[in-house]
Amino acid sequence: MVILAVESSCDETSVALVEDGKKILSHIILSQMDIHAIYGGVVPEIASRNHVVHMTRVFEQALKQANIDIKDIDLVAVTQGPGLIGSLLVGINAATAFAFAHQKPIIGVNHLIGHIYAASIEHEMKFPALALLVSGGHTELLYIKDHMDIKLLGTTLDDAVGEAYDKVARVLGLPYPGGPALDKLAALGSDTYHLPRPFLDKREHNFSFSGLKSAVINLIHNAEQRKEEIRVNDMCASFQASVLDVLIEKTKHAAETYDVKQIILAGGVAANKGLRNRIFKEISNYDIIIPSMEYCTDNAAMIGVAAYYQYQKFGASKDYLLSGYSTMSFETLEKK
Ligand code: KG4
Ligand code: ZN
Repeated sequence: MVILAVESSCDETSVALVEDGKKILSHIILSQMDIHAIYGGVVPEIASRNHVVHMTRVFEQALKQANIDIKDIDLVAVTQGPGLIGSLLVGINAATAFAFAHQKPIIGVNHLIGHIYAASIEHEMKFPALALLVSGGHTELLYIKDHMDIKLLGTTLDDAVGEAYDKVARVLGLPYPGGPALDKLAALGSDTYHLPRPFLDKREHNFSFSGLKSAVINLIHNAEQRKEEIRVNDMCASFQASVLDVLIEKTKHAAETYDVKQIILAGGVAANKGLRNRIFKEISNYDIIIPSMEYCTDNAAMIGVAAYYQYQKFGASKDYLLSGYSTMSFETLEKK
């Protein structure tokens, strides 16, 4: 089964062709990062406009790279949410137009489920599994009983982990996007600032990162007022140590509680080198799978993979009336 998948939930315009939920026939990602870097963060209106400008070209390149006849495409899949509504609608309209013009069935895919299935491109999923999904907009612990049978165990009550990375990095004057920059400097410093470990209580599956972020910002402001210098590398190492202590402890505890066979680490923050190193060391008695860097951040290949399993279980829409959703829960999956 060949699926043409479209992703445009934030600032990446991406189209991929995926065969049988595994083989990536083509994969094009056009990042708008340089444009948004000027503003220090994604500007939703600019993101949607750029999706409009580039979408057709990205479609054409993906079809050309796959070297495939359109008649051999069996299904069209598109990210339906969660994400920036204007950005989502550009992808949904492009995918719907393509599906309608070529009379292909279409399905809407949850972006977060896409992030989880990114791990199955290069690895085999084993159930039940636990997923730690960490991105710019999300921090979730999920129990995956079987394909497309996902239960939310815990989420962030305020900032997402990637969002906290980006904000702390910005206050430290690091270039956008802050996460990767902070990760690099963290490796050069030491955990000497003694920051809080929010919600470390193991019985609690939820997260909270805004207090930690504020603690860093306060320390920096106080130091500025006293004309003291901030040791940037040490601050990065301290912030990262605090975040990772919480993420790892909660993941370990949830894996034990739910007696899972595998742990999946997914989302943009799964690209974090410190997290990758520590999770293998500190949760060594579990099979842990992580997508390669290319598939960690937003991309259409993961949507094409998730769509394959979703289609097996729930089929496709009967019409061409898909909507976008800025928020979308996992539980709504069956009801579509
Ligand atoms: O999944 P993603 O591409 O977009 C969302 O769906 O949010 O994740 C982007 C987020 C950004 O906050 C970025 O700073 C963060 O992932 N990120 C990292 C690293 N690489 C990307 N955070 C920490 N360390 C990294 N190496
Ligand atoms: Zn994402």
